[in-house]
Amino acid sequence: MKDDPAAKTDEKKERPVLWAGRLAEKPSAGAFAFEASLDVDKRLAQDDIRGSRAHAAMLGKQGIIPPETAAALDAELERISREFEAGVPDGSAEDIHSLIEGLLTERLGDQGRMLHAGRSRNDQVVLDFRLYLKRAIPEIRLCIAEAAGTLLAIAEKHAESVMPGYTHLQRAQPVTLGHHLCAWAAGLIRDGGRFASALERLDECPLGSGALAGSGLPLDREAVSRSLGFARPVLNSMDAVADRDFVLETASASAITMVHLSRFCEDLVIWSSEEFGFIEFGESWSTGSSIMPQKKNPDFAELVRGKAGRTTGALVTLFILLKGLPYAYDRDLQEDKEALFGSLDTLRSCLAIFSGMMGSASFRKDRMEAACTGGFLEATDAAEYLVRRGVPFRRAHETAALIVRDCLAAGQKRIAERGLDELRARSPLFGEDIYAALSPAASVAARSLPGGPAPAEVRRQIGIMREALKDFL
Ligand code: ARG
Repeated sequence: MKDDPAAKTDEKKERPVLWAGRLAEKPSAGAFAFEASLDVDKRLAQDDIRGSRAHAAMLGKQGIIPPETAAALDAELERISREFEAGVPDGSAEDIHSLIEGLLTERLGDQGRMLHAGRSRNDQVVLDFRLYLKRAIPEIRLCIAEAAGTLLAIAEKHAESVMPGYTHLQRAQPVTLGHHLCAWAAGLIRDGGRFASALERLDECPLGSGALAGSGLPLDREAVSRSLGFARPVLNSMDAVADRDFVLETASASAITMVHLSRFCEDLVIWSSEEFGFIEFGESWSTGSSIMPQKKNPDFAELVRGKAGRTTGALVTLFILLKGLPYAYDRDLQEDKEALFGSLDTLRSCLAIFSGMMGSASFRKDRMEAACTGGFLEATDAAEYLVRRGVPFRRAHETAALIVRDCLAAGQKRIAERGLDELRARSPLFGEDIYAALSPAASVAARSLPGGPAPAEVRRQIGIMREALKDFL
């Protein structure tokens, strides 16, 4: 490999850097590739250009650079922005900031060299990252709203479809599919709220912080912040370049959303098993087996469940990246973007897949209802029947448990299979109306408290969540 001519050319190839003056020697090609971040930060290209245009305009207004230079920089940056729409060139630049400044200098000479006055890549990169998230977070909130909206539409259709609710994955009490899906939607809506509140805190403009200590030039931080649509400038210049708590918060919102999706998908995988048979995914949302001809597998749900590992991993990566970093900027911070971009990419694709998969699903009401009988899910209703007639709950609980044991001893699968005299032998307070109270539908209808599974209450919850989702648009 020593005589590889390609390697030689590469070694000689010009790799423009922004700090060439100080150092007589340049890193080797391999070392340069190691520290370069263009592959990752090129997705900040348009944000970097926006920031540079705002900075150039302010430099012009403040008389730090001539007005015609500000105008020339603006026009050239606009041209570069249009050129980049077709793709950012995979040049040999160290990062997106060097690439763009290099192009400006190549095309405008000394005018290009004027742009970086009062600015450092340390405040520039945080600016780009925040501008990117100001675009990305609202998009993610839309994806979350779509997933939650899909769940609410199914919930509305199935507000009366009874199914077992589980604790310890053991059938516990009857609920409805609508109630279950509303529980999921509620989690997603809070996820959207976490993204919104992260966005609110990161909405501050770092420009003017320089490398860490601001600038002696008469920059107008307020004007730049305003022109870029930020709520305000970051208060402290060291905080601006050193902290990445906004990255942690966003990655955390992403990881939490993915843990939600992962748990939902675990339910879906269980529901789609032959043993449960509650759900059928559309054919195009299932996969077959290369060996077993009969298989219809829930691979999409499994992959969403599996990909939650990445987003938790990204969050841990970011925590460890930041822990122990001395103030202010350290190059370690360059690693923040790959982790968060990866996390958000995973989340975006999983939300889209989840919405599509759920939209294709059909539910087996017969199977869900059948699963409500045979596991004594009505035992709590029998106990509450007695409580309503004045029995202390702990006694009522014991009586219902004894009745369940009676059933098991007699080979019966439901409390309703016992005669009234048999029930009365356990408590004289049982009347003929106990039988009506024991059906899954009656059990669900009786639990009409706020938050409960009664159909009217589920419809109320759906209405409230639909209202909340309007905020996401
Ligand atoms: N690529 C760097 C980052 O993402 C940009 C800032 C570089 N600053 C420096 N002083 N080397 O953090």
